[in-house]
Amino acid sequence: MRSRLPLLGTVLLPLLLSVRPASSAEYSTSNSIIPKDNSENCSCYVVNSGADSNTPQYFQYYRFYDFRNLADSPGQYLSTPGLVNDTQDAGAEPVWDANILNSDAWNTDWNIQNWSKNATDDFPTKMVNSPANIYIKQDTDSNLSTYLTLRTSRLDDFQSAGEIENLQKNLMHASMRMSGRVIGSKGAVAGFFTFFDDTNESDIEILTDDATDVIRYTNQPAVDEDGNEVSTASVAPEKLAPWDEWQTHRIDWLDQNSYWYLNNRQVAANTYSVPREPSGLVINMWSDGGEWSGNMSVGDSAEFQIQWIEMTFNTSGPVDGPAGGSNKRDLGELEKREDGCRVVCKIDGVKTLGTPEVVSKSQAADMSVSWGLLAFVGMVSLAVGM
Ligand SMILES: *[C@@H]1O[C@H](CO)[C@@H](O)[C@H](O)[C@H]1NC(C)=O
Ligand SMILES: *[C@@H]1O[C@H](CO)[C@@H](O)[C@H](O)[C@H]1NC(C)=O
Ligand SMILES: *[C@@H]1O[C@H](CO)[C@@H](O)[C@H](O)[C@H]1NC(C)=O
Ligand SMILES: *[C@@H]1O[C@H](CO)[C@@H](O)[C@H](O)[C@H]1NC(C)=O
Ligand SMILES: *[C@@H]1O[C@H](CO)[C@@H](O)[C@H](O)[C@H]1NC(C)=O
Ligand SMILES: *[C@@H]1O[C@H](CO)[C@@H](O)[C@H](O)[C@H]1NC(C)=O
Ligand SMILES: *[C@@H]1O[C@H](CO)[C@@H](O)[C@H](O)[C@H]1NC(C)=O
Ligand SMILES: *[C@@H]1O[C@H](CO)[C@@H](O)[C@H](O)[C@H]1NC(C)=O
Repeated sequence: MRSRLPLLGTVLLPLLLSVRPASSAEYSTSNSIIPKDNSENCSCYVVNSGADSNTPQYFQYYRFYDFRNLADSPGQYLSTPGLVNDTQDAGAEPVWDANILNSDAWNTDWNIQNWSKNATDDFPTKMVNSPANIYIKQDTDSNLSTYLTLRTSRLDDFQSAGEIENLQKNLMHASMRMSGRVIGSKGAVAGFFTFFDDTNESDIEILTDDATDVIRYTNQPAVDEDGNEVSTASVAPEKLAPWDEWQTHRIDWLDQNSYWYLNNRQVAANTYSVPREPSGLVINMWSDGGEWSGNMSVGDSAEFQIQWIEMTFNTSGPVDGPAGGSNKRDLGELEKREDGCRVVCKIDGVKTLGTPEVVSKSQAADMSVSWGLLAFVGMVSLAVGM
């Protein structure tokens, strides 16, 4: 990795790293889902993407959400919380594990949804999102390692579902990854996607009706105004690593292209309806009896389990939201990111997942290295193999 520095010696020099204020240490406790930057020394992030999976793309921000180390004692999260019952059709149930899932740290970056939709001809099962379908779990047979779980279950009169939204709603291009698996009954959809509206949405969807080697990668709208399927909207590659075991899923939302990866291998690409509006990350587990999700049998349930989520992204406007806007957030140290791309970090192929590593540095004195130089840096990075 270091070997590229000499190559860049004439234009890029090692520098005194600007160490961020001590308070950034608050973000580095391991036993916490506090949004982590883990990258005090980085001023931008590079990801290899593109049709050749080898074109550097640069992003300004980075977050890592780790759900793997939330247990204080063995067996703490072994039991699965009871299913929502027939009378709980208002989404009014409290969240489990409120010490974590209703903590300030969680609420700074995530929102648990409780909206619902009625049955229609096309989607014959009423669906109700409930906070009681979001919880922390642990395997009986393994170590202390924990994961976030979203559940959906079928009642007589409705489908109880789970959904969380990331509060960074002004993403404008991103590379987002998640280590997850899906288990349980047929008739459910696990979704991990960028969302602005029904026509600016880029999805990874796992359908439990599908074989475990098939994943759906879609840019919405997948149906046109007349209700007909748009054949180019969705790609469903086969022979993939099984989604009921832990895999790393990834979506790269770029200017003109969408690329999807599974365990760092590109498995789908699309130029159809690549989102153009500022969007947020949404994660859900649901069913509505429609053609896409299928029907879940009464009494059945399925879970979308997530070990960690990593995202690097640009924003439309200030990272903490538009001035005076209702979505203005207090991001503390996380919002302080200098302009330019002085210290480039990689997020893939690092020693510790979730801890970006420096790959190149520009001159300390020049705080305003133009993003334009990146094309050059990128080419050199490629030349030495990143
Ligand atoms: C940032 O750089 C300093 C000085 O080299 C180093 O001690 C520290 O570990 C680095 N931090 C991270 C998160 O890599
Ligand atoms: C992110 O923003 C920087 C600075 O504006 C720009 O150079 C870069 O191309 C953007 N990346 C993507 C993937 O849009
Ligand atoms: C459903 O669960 C709630 C909360 O535990 C309980 O009060 C209620 O009696 C249950 N209803 C049925 C029909 O089991
Ligand atoms: C749904 O959540 C909102 C806040 O996110 C809350 O104000 C509202 O009371 C909730 N609705 C129910 C039925 O719990
Ligand atoms: C569902 O239908 C009921 C009864 O018509 C209505 O009161 C309710 O507002 C509807 N809910 C939604 C989410 O549209
Ligand atoms: C603990 O279990 C998790 C989930 O099954 C797994 O990803 C992780 O590698 C395990 N860690 C060790 C140290 O065995
Ligand atoms: C995104 O939203 C805009 C505004 O609603 C719309 O014009 C456009 O068709 C949508 N989709 C894409 C891919 O731009
Ligand atoms: C789901 O079940 C309902 C009610 O039996 C039926 O109308 C609908 O066609 C089914 N959906 C699918 C996708 O089979």
